[in-house]
Amino acid sequence: MNSRVLVFGSINMDLVAKVPHLPIPGETLQGHSFTTVPGGKGANQAVAAARLEVPTAIVGRVGNDQFGQELLQNLQSDRVQTDNVYIDLSTTSGVAIIAVDDNAENHIVVISGANGNVGEEDVERLTPLLPTASILLLQLEIPLSAVQKAAQAAQQAGVKVILDPAPAPTELPSELYSLVDIITPNAVEAEQLVHFAVNTPESAEKAALLLQQRGIKTAIIKLGAKGVFCATVDDSFFIPAFSVKAVDTVAAGDAFNGGLAAALSQGYSLREAVTWGAATGALSATKSGAQSSLPTRQRVEAFLQEHQPPR
Ligand code: RIB
Repeated sequence: MNSRVLVFGSINMDLVAKVPHLPIPGETLQGHSFTTVPGGKGANQAVAAARLEVPTAIVGRVGNDQFGQELLQNLQSDRVQTDNVYIDLSTTSGVAIIAVDDNAENHIVVISGANGNVGEEDVERLTPLLPTASILLLQLEIPLSAVQKAAQAAQQAGVKVILDPAPAPTELPSELYSLVDIITPNAVEAEQLVHFAVNTPESAEKAALLLQQRGIKTAIIKLGAKGVFCATVDDSFFIPAFSVKAVDTVAAGDAFNGGLAAALSQGYSLREAVTWGAATGALSATKSGAQSSLPTRQRVEAFLQEHQPPR
């Protein structure tokens, strides 16, 4: 079985300010600290899978700047294969301007830079890698047309497609639903897609059913500190969240997807893989930053041993 995880997605440098509270419009606020941390939903998911010791490659773009060099070096130091990350000479690297407050709440503003130029040429770089992979991870920080073409190529190659519909779209093209095996919205994203409030296991179940009617096989709704609801064609289950002290939830959703994909690529059952995703996400919320917060396999295994897997 091919066990490689492929990611087709965004690579950003996160500019992070720790603040006492999130500023209101017009407010000037004295922050606690400032750091730059490698991020981007695609790169975060790739690093999450790689730290779980699964061979991982990313296809995407960085800009022709210092951030681009640092982002590539950082991915490589985490053993993410970057041979097919294109250095786009026409623009700068993607950045995210992030404020995280004392209650671990955040605001994120993303400036796409090179991520916004990802297109057909990048899908062509991705396609030859598909036969070496079992899973393709997609998110929505690159143009939707490229996401859709990548999903088509993966389906043709028999590779499982996991779509994180983040940032939340108001709607997805109907053809994309039938190209995706697993969709993983959080509560806000689920609400955007189904147009009703999703904040309980019951409403998550209703949302999952609607997404399945649109053509998705498996819907996994991430309810943050409440847990995860999962519905397949013939089964559904709810996994309560692991209880941890969250200091920064940036990339916790990405950590979930990396953990889920890593476990599925190694032959774990869906329920086990959702538990791995939940543990990886929970551990990420206990540390600051995006990729700086992602746990190693050793930490996830120890955490799962200490915490009876939730039932
Ligand atoms: O999901 C978290 C990520 O969203 C951050 O790393 C930031 O880059 C934005 O893309």
